[in-house]
Amino acid sequence: MNQREAVIVAYGRSAVTKAYKGGFSTVHPVTYGAETLKGVLAKIPQLDPKEIDDVIVGCANPEGTQGWNMARLITQMAGLPKETAAQTVNRFCSSGLQTIATAANAVIANQCDVVVAGGVESMTRIKNMFLEPEFRNPALVAAYEEAYMAPGYTAERVAALHHISRTEMDELAVRSHALAAIAQDAGAFDDQIIPITTTAPDGTTKVIDKDEGIRRGTSLDSLAQLKPSFEGIVTAGNSSQMSDGASFVVVMSREKADALGIAPIARFVGFAVAGCESELMGLGPIYAVPKVLKRTGMSLEQIDTIELNEAFAAQAIPCIRTLGFDMGKVNPEGGALALGHPLGATGAILTCKALSRLRRQGGRYAMITMCIGGGMGAAGIFEML
Ligand SMILES: CC(C)(COP(=O)(O)OP(=O)(O)OC[C@H]1O[C@@H](n2cnc3c(N)ncnc32)[C@H](O)[C@@H]1OP(=O)(O)O)[C@@H](O)C(=O)NCCC(=O)NCCS
Repeated sequence: MNQREAVIVAYGRSAVTKAYKGGFSTVHPVTYGAETLKGVLAKIPQLDPKEIDDVIVGCANPEGTQGWNMARLITQMAGLPKETAAQTVNRFCSSGLQTIATAANAVIANQCDVVVAGGVESMTRIKNMFLEPEFRNPALVAAYEEAYMAPGYTAERVAALHHISRTEMDELAVRSHALAAIAQDAGAFDDQIIPITTTAPDGTTKVIDKDEGIRRGTSLDSLAQLKPSFEGIVTAGNSSQMSDGASFVVVMSREKADALGIAPIARFVGFAVAGCESELMGLGPIYAVPKVLKRTGMSLEQIDTIELNEAFAAQAIPCIRTLGFDMGKVNPEGGALALGHPLGATGAILTCKALSRLRRQGGRYAMITMCIGGGMGAAGIFEML
């Protein structure tokens, strides 16, 4: 029997806004999650929402405002029928890619025909980028305290281990802002961004349709002025920004797409995760990328474009070097240093960016990869159809 194929038939994302001070900071994540979901489904009117088997939402902090089962709340807020099931998934920074892989696997295994996958994050609602000591397991702290190490400190460890200088890190940030600005000006993000109208507490409304993180004119000089945010050379300028955002893709079996008369955009090729030391979590892609290439029988040379999440320049640089990535293929429209990293949504956002780019510019294979808090990496491959 031929294996079923999982294809992506629609994708979309919200603009990525600045946490605490940006466009979504006063908006409940269930609201902009639902608006993004509705915007993506509107791209394929042939699909009756009743046919969606499951909605899988990545969220790296599924508690407080993002608690309960946020995926289910988003489907209800979006007006999907009560029959549509929903689950919230947490694999930290890769959650939004993990959900796409889980959706594709469910389709391939013939457990579902149509699954919506993606992620939502309001970093505005996250109190700290670490787990408060009172919630930690004392025995694990005694045995391996680094299991709880906050990401910024792991970035310092990675920079020291790989002898990455402050200047090299700032250079990557300059590149990221410059490329993101060029892409935004050229309208490269327009087909992927779902405009969302927000209402502020004072009743004023605003359409959020542009990524807010890009700082035009970012230079080595301006970055050199920034004080370390942690304990060494990692600063606000060479770290991914704290952001709010959402993103979804619709995954279905090839047969279903054919039956509905929907032209598939891309095929899910493969996905892998790998673990590493918690204190070196930024190096996760170094372990995940070879795994996904081996499992899919592919080589790096076949990949036309790469979205490597820029959690920190400190980790992106050693990943690029160790993996031998061609810089011409990596984040050609900027990365999270400029555009932000709304944790649970990022994997789906990067997928939107890569698929949209290959649609515009041609090319066959896209790779999405990122490091993951706690010490992991993830990598996925898609083929344009
Ligand atoms: C590094 C970090 C602590 C910085 O937090 P912050 O100081 O609140 O950062 P901000 O983005 O608000 O920037 C602070 C200031 O730095 C300066 N700055 C930041 N980026 C700059 C740039 N590219 N050029 C010039 N100045 C810049 C600005 O003066 C800015 O203030 P403003 O926004 O009022 O203009 C935070 O962004 C962080 O924790 N990032 C990592 C998140 C993370 O761990 N994610 C998970 C990865 S696994």
